[in-house]
Amino acid sequence: MKIAVLPGDGIGTEIVAEAVKVLNALDLKFEMETAPVGGAAYEAAGHPLPESTLKLAREADAILFGAVGDWKYDKLDRPLRPEQAILGLRKALGLFANFRPAICYEQLTHASSLKPELVAGLDILIIRELTGDIYFGQPRGRRMAADGHFPGAEEAFDTMRYSRPEIERIARVAFEAARKRNKRVTSVDKANVLETFQLWKDVVTEVHKDYSDVQLDHMYVDNAAMQLVKAPKAFDVIVTGNMFGDILSDEASMLTGSIGMLPSASLNDKKQGLYEPSHGSAPDIAGKGVANPLATILSAAMMLRFSLGQAEAADRIEAAVKKVLAQGLRTPDIYSEGTTKVGTVQMGDAVVNALR
Ligand code: IPM
Ligand code: MG
Repeated sequence: MKIAVLPGDGIGTEIVAEAVKVLNALDLKFEMETAPVGGAAYEAAGHPLPESTLKLAREADAILFGAVGDWKYDKLDRPLRPEQAILGLRKALGLFANFRPAICYEQLTHASSLKPELVAGLDILIIRELTGDIYFGQPRGRRMAADGHFPGAEEAFDTMRYSRPEIERIARVAFEAARKRNKRVTSVDKANVLETFQLWKDVVTEVHKDYSDVQLDHMYVDNAAMQLVKAPKAFDVIVTGNMFGDILSDEASMLTGSIGMLPSASLNDKKQGLYEPSHGSAPDIAGKGVANPLATILSAAMMLRFSLGQAEAADRIEAAVKKVLAQGLRTPDIYSEGTTKVGTVQMGDAVVNALR
């Protein structure tokens, strides 16, 4: 089992170190190799996704990814910015299926900005298409407007597009996932306005014919954004495009109390996957030893389950995380009165101890 370890920038290095510690505490044999990515790789090799890092990622069974980005790179040309590393990996490895579970742990019910009764017991799964849509659609660019409201003015444009096979395969992923859960899928679109999402809706409806045991609903994205804060527990699996999924998954993260708790998996059709916390590189707290490593540790659990065929080890890690929360240990992002504030390393150590 070969794991490419790509810590990246900001808190990335600190939280990935804790996840690696947890993996090493299991009685399994892994080959782990670390490589720079994002701003760190730009500093070291002049590119956010150097050829050597991409090669390592391609050859690995799974990638454990930290986070990339720092404001200091905002002035670089787009192809050299840290974010291009994660977009480049998604594209190069064909990681089209992004799983973003939003689970509200019992002990963190009060950490959410929503009323506890709205989020208690929340367990929803957002499945975001990750290699298409306006993120990757060509053409895109800047030019002088030939028409429109201001001909001759500078304009910029991106292209939203989805093909039938792209929609079919992500719809299948969502229906299969729902079969293992509460058998309900909400497909989120904007079919009332956009051609792209009319096709989306049509294709999801067709694919559903193969999954009559799963209930399918369609919802416009604006309404979905509202329902997520109104009655989040009404959802089971949400499937949507790249752009809407980016936005809705950040929204959903706040239902759980902290984005520091949310893991994610990005899979291709060979079950090769990239596993990363749903949060970013948080340069403001980098190096302070206060970042919450649990999202990354839980991402490592997803990696064991989805890409490495070690479901039992994944269960063990998830049980250990619940145990440290029950012990009252909290990093600052999830701290509340009456609990014990700990740092990144202490939290990782506690998970390792809980595994034993
Ligand atoms: C995410 C992030 C990325 C995205 C950025 C860093 C490119 O926001 O994984 O949600 O927009 O997909
Ligand atoms: Mg995002």
